[in-house]
Amino acid sequence: MPDTSVALNPLREGMRIRRTPSPCSMVIFGASGDLTQRKLIPALYYLHRERLLPQGFSVIGCGKTPYDNEKFRGVMADAVRKFSEQPSSVDESSLRSFTESLYYLTDNFGDRKAYTQLGSLLGSLDRERGTSGNRLFYLATPPSAFPVTIGHLGSAGLAAPEDPGKSWTRVVIEKPFGHDLESARKLTTAVNSAFKEEQVYRIDHYLGKETVQNLLVFRFANGIFEPIWNRRYIDHVEITVAEDLGVEGRGRYYEEAGLLRDMIQNHVMSVLSLVAMEAPASFDAVEVRDEKAKVMRAVRPIDLDNLGDFVVRGQYGEGWIRGEKVPAYRTEPNVAPKSATETFAALKLFIDNWRWADVPFYVRSGKRLAKRVSEIVVQFRRVPHMVFGRQTQNPVEQNVLAMRIQPNEGISINFNAKFPAPIMEIRPVKMEFRYAESFGGEPPSAYETLLLDCMLGDQTLFNREDAVELAWQLLTPLLERWKEDGEKGIQSYESGSWGPEAADRLLEQDGRRWHRL
Ligand code: BG6
Repeated sequence: MPDTSVALNPLREGMRIRRTPSPCSMVIFGASGDLTQRKLIPALYYLHRERLLPQGFSVIGCGKTPYDNEKFRGVMADAVRKFSEQPSSVDESSLRSFTESLYYLTDNFGDRKAYTQLGSLLGSLDRERGTSGNRLFYLATPPSAFPVTIGHLGSAGLAAPEDPGKSWTRVVIEKPFGHDLESARKLTTAVNSAFKEEQVYRIDHYLGKETVQNLLVFRFANGIFEPIWNRRYIDHVEITVAEDLGVEGRGRYYEEAGLLRDMIQNHVMSVLSLVAMEAPASFDAVEVRDEKAKVMRAVRPIDLDNLGDFVVRGQYGEGWIRGEKVPAYRTEPNVAPKSATETFAALKLFIDNWRWADVPFYVRSGKRLAKRVSEIVVQFRRVPHMVFGRQTQNPVEQNVLAMRIQPNEGISINFNAKFPAPIMEIRPVKMEFRYAESFGGEPPSAYETLLLDCMLGDQTLFNREDAVELAWQLLTPLLERWKEDGEKGIQSYESGSWGPEAADRLLEQDGRRWHRL
């Protein structure tokens, strides 16, 4: 039982207002891996600590690493202490009661036999802890294991569809969902052979971030922005998702994935869809996902004949990050010395519809950049006529709306003001909203939000098959072209910089500059 003496976080109040999920078991495949320790278990701990998990909630970790329950509990407790976003808020007694709900099965889950053992453990938890046949399967393994795991869940009879009012079974599939269009389609076929679409939760943790969800609130719960959210008033949009970290011991995965698959195909395209989509009729899974898919359908295919005008591919060399010397990507563990894998990409995209025709969307993402920052910048058009032209010397800046996804979450608007002086001097000023100042405290992590949504059966913030495939449809030709080109065209950039110079030229050729972050 959760410790009732622990102070609850008021910013999780909104989560409490929702229903508590029905008792269930969560099965994590890949339980000794990085994602489980860094994200899933800390998120589950906070949900437990905040008394948001149902009675009897149990986790079964599955993996090849030979742990017993006690060992698994100890490793997971350490993971919570180490990877929690606010280590000081980890409370030892609630951590102990949380880890008591963790179990572990050592087996080869590529093998059908392992699922018999899993089925019987799930059955005994149903009886002993009252989890009532409700199951959440979480695929946190390397993506190559997804089809086999899904197939075995199906053939072992563990993927039974919802039995309304009685029990449910859901599956969460981590990104990347496939590695190109063809493999995504194959994976869809494998998923569909075992599960129905309403059981499938394709996770993109960016959609669980408060700031990303707030994009929709900002656009559709305010009357003043939507009327100017179009080509008539907007000059261009920039989306930056920058990290200062390198590949962090994930060289093997990254060599196969690369930046485009790791960040653009999912996180960046999800954010772009929310910036560009039409207002859904309601904030409900079908409506929101229909509108997102329409955006993806309208993105103009990348012009491979003039690639240099639309795309930049980079890879980090050595450099300095926060005063420390860091190695080049090619010298990271498990990375080929002549690797042609990109760690940076910048793209100029267009959305061919009435709202956005000819408005460029410049997107960029990279590892080992100058700092960790994710931001959407909407730059408005110049005033149609400058009445102060004769009186002012300096060019008057365009209005900029900046939505900071992380860190220092907030929204700012730049506009021009008269500098107080007996001359007509116009200077840009800033109006700001900061989450921390307005609301106080730390919001729930994206994984807390999304795990709770899965347990409650709310798919709104998860990707539907069509959006995932449309993103692959856009990017697969580029990936194939890069594969053909090998090292040709990949630009090295210094760690700690803002990426290759070609990324600046991408905007300069259009008379623009990346907004300073
Ligand atoms: C993950 C990528 O999906 O997102 C990682 O696989 C990346 O490479 C991470 O570091 C970034 O997430 P966040 O929430 O820290 O911006």
